[in-house]
Amino acid sequence: TNPNFVKIVEVGPRDGLQNEPRPIPPLIKAELINRLALAGIRNIEAGSFVSPKWVPQMAGTSEVLSLIDPFPNTGYSVLVPNQKGMDLLLDILSPSTSPDSAAKPPPPVTEVAIFTSATNAFSLANTNVSISESLARLAPVARTALDAGLKVRGYVSVVVTCPFSGRVDPRRVRDVSRELVQMGCYEIGLGDTTGAGTPASVRAMLEEVAKDVDVGMLSGHFHDTNGTATANILTALDFGLRSFDASVGGLGGCPYSPGATGNVATEDVVYALTGDRLFGAIGEPYDGEPAKTVQSQWDVGPIDLAQLAEIGQWISGVLGRETTSRAGRALMAR
Ligand code: HMG
Ligand code: MG
Repeated sequence: TNPNFVKIVEVGPRDGLQNEPRPIPPLIKAELINRLALAGIRNIEAGSFVSPKWVPQMAGTSEVLSLIDPFPNTGYSVLVPNQKGMDLLLDILSPSTSPDSAAKPPPPVTEVAIFTSATNAFSLANTNVSISESLARLAPVARTALDAGLKVRGYVSVVVTCPFSGRVDPRRVRDVSRELVQMGCYEIGLGDTTGAGTPASVRAMLEEVAKDVDVGMLSGHFHDTNGTATANILTALDFGLRSFDASVGGLGGCPYSPGATGNVATEDVVYALTGDRLFGAIGEPYDGEPAKTVQSQWDVGPIDLAQLAEIGQWISGVLGRETTSRAGRALMAR
């Protein structure tokens, strides 16, 4: 495998939209997912099977999934908090028993994401149980998913600071991450839920987690509350991570993390990793040595940055605001 390949997981349709107060029609959510796939995004978190009493915006996830045009080589995942969510998902994934041969094929879900936290306070706020209770509840959910042929990704929230209990001990993040790996998760999404992380605190956390979990299994999920998410990604890349979550237009925030803003914008991540390719050779002649052309080494697959910027502007407009992606705004102004 290419050591310079960076996997981008688009979480806008889930993390990006889950906190929106007004209901967004399933058709809009599906259009977002379909446009992201067309723009070359190969991993999309499409929604969640959580309690509609807790997160009403995700209530229509089944319908959204039924409206997806499956794109080749694209993985679609959904969040599942408990066995009830898993059962609801498996229901819609089981092949239709209808005698009608034109029955629609099941939606293209390839993966589930289970989630827990590095603090009890956040775990209680987000899922109504302590960390240990949440791990006990998730183990059979992971087993069911694996038995059904689904990949399982595990999230750890509040890996740097917790909105309720302050700075988080990296050893907690390490322990919870290890338990998720033992449950069969192929990747651990380290969630800087509050976006408080800096390159220094993120590196310290990664150093601890890497004592127990292979860096190749770690993924960065940075909210951009303080504008440090891209810097944190570059730090994590330097540490060896090759998978990052991002949200088109910088959409989002967690309903249980007051004041936290959206994920790092996908446009900003793709720009930071490959943006130099937008520029041609050095234009103005200069005497002496021929100019050296610089090109970053990172490969994000077939992602088209111009299309992403358009999608970020479109979905932000649908929500009645400007995109928060700096690269998105700059690209649209070109
Ligand atoms: P609870 O209230 O303790 O559970 O919630 P319950 O079993 O008593 O269920 C309450 C009601 O919800 C019942 O309905 C259940 O049937 C129903 P009633 O009987 O009262 O009519 N219910 C469900 N309905 C549909 N699907 C389900 C489901 N489960 C129960 N799966 C629970 C516990 C875990 C369900 C709840 O706390 C919950 O749904 N939490 C999810 C919160 C959430 O989605 N947070 C955002 C995602 S995580 C995140 O954003 C962080 C991340 O981005 C990383 C980072 O940034 O850190 C991933
Ligand atoms: Mg998040």
